[in-house]
Amino acid sequence: MTAVDYKIAGATPEQQEAVDMLVKQFLLTDSRLGEIIKEFRRRMEDGLAHDGRVVRMFPSYVTRRPTGSEAGSYYAIDLGGTNLRVLKVTLDGAGGVTTEHQKFSLTEEAKTKTLFDFIAQSIETFLDDRNLRPTGQDEPISMGFTFSYPVQQTSINSGILSQWTKGLNVPGCVGRDVVRLLQDALLRLGLRVKISALVNDTVGTLLSAAYKNPAAQMGIIFGTGTNAAYYENIDNIGKWNGPRPESGEMVVNMEWGAFDSNDFAFLPFTQHDIKLDRKSINPRKQAYEKMISGMYLGEIARNVILWLADQRLMFGGCSSEVLNAMWSIDTSYLSNALEDTSEDLDEIKCIIEKTLSIAETTLVDRKIFRLIAALVGERAARLSAIGVVATLGKRPELLKKAVHIGIDGSMYEFWPNFDKMLSDTVSHFLAPEQFANVSFGLAKDGSGVGAAIIAMLASQE
Ligand code: BGC
Repeated sequence: MTAVDYKIAGATPEQQEAVDMLVKQFLLTDSRLGEIIKEFRRRMEDGLAHDGRVVRMFPSYVTRRPTGSEAGSYYAIDLGGTNLRVLKVTLDGAGGVTTEHQKFSLTEEAKTKTLFDFIAQSIETFLDDRNLRPTGQDEPISMGFTFSYPVQQTSINSGILSQWTKGLNVPGCVGRDVVRLLQDALLRLGLRVKISALVNDTVGTLLSAAYKNPAAQMGIIFGTGTNAAYYENIDNIGKWNGPRPESGEMVVNMEWGAFDSNDFAFLPFTQHDIKLDRKSINPRKQAYEKMISGMYLGEIARNVILWLADQRLMFGGCSSEVLNAMWSIDTSYLSNALEDTSEDLDEIKCIIEKTLSIAETTLVDRKIFRLIAALVGERAARLSAIGVVATLGKRPELLKKAVHIGIDGSMYEFWPNFDKMLSDTVSHFLAPEQFANVSFGLAKDGSGVGAAIIAMLASQE
């Protein structure tokens, strides 16, 4: 990726003026970020003290850390937004992991009606294909269940869905125990499987990072959605009224994607964000997630592009049926655009003219497209850093020694320079000696592996 120029060579004064305005709206100063961090911290404290607050800070019931020396094979199910994976995870006892997994694409029917039957059937296929189905005499197979949506846990293996996020919206599930729903579907198939741990994907990511690295304190997803989990001192979780864990700590599933929902008072909303929010399936919810995660960045960019086209500042004032349709710009088009280093921006030409069906583009149009991608991405990465800084700042004692943060998700893995923009921004808010102790690392597919590890830890108790 080459640096993006905010001055567009060849642009008309009107085009440049509009671009300058976008730059001003999307590039956030450190002092603006600093104010948001303070509010983020306040919301975290509020969520730790009380149930039902905007940033939920759900206790995960995970109180232990793996040592890395655990060995054996364990099972997990990992439900994301579009896929389901069933996994057999083998821990080698030296921090190493091998997995055997099968992927199932959620059908339309599963997404809108029969989700839990679909999951149960997928587990059945996985076990039958490998001749692993337990018979009447066998012990039931125990499985960890990664469920990447906000759940108020009531034990290590039960929890109430508080709302759907990202694209999924299956009726009849909010307010119900998702493990019960799955266990009932398994019973309908006569399958002897017991869900022994219910795990948010961030908690799984953290535990899989901790299996390899004892310094792991935080697990984050920057993908289709976003969220984080971290080890919190139990004394800091004011609302916890269960037994005190032996370790004195518990992983908290922050559900930080909800930060600034309802109020819309602290994040840098533009008209393009507001438009997206109004037309989304969950208006006034997941405000932070909508500014930083992969599901939404393409749509923010589409709103900006239409705003420019409507003023005749892009594509000669033309649009297309494709571009007029919501979600027609996939976030991956933007990251591909940022990788286009050709003189004529050929890849971008192809995206706009072929994929988005705009008849003709000028080089200036293509440069503006690229700039929009850069602005939306840079704002996302810098805003992502505020969650990291607020969380690390919550436990300053940890920063005196090595702190590792395991991260998974398409934005972190594939968006050009996202990792660098993230860590640079974090460095601006920590003392140099603190920042020197922090490491970030990709915890690829950590969520499923982590669920198997948690199922294993639960089975030891
Ligand atoms: C969900 C979280 C999840 C995150 C990342 C959000 O939409 O609310 O539970 O951890 O996406 O997948």
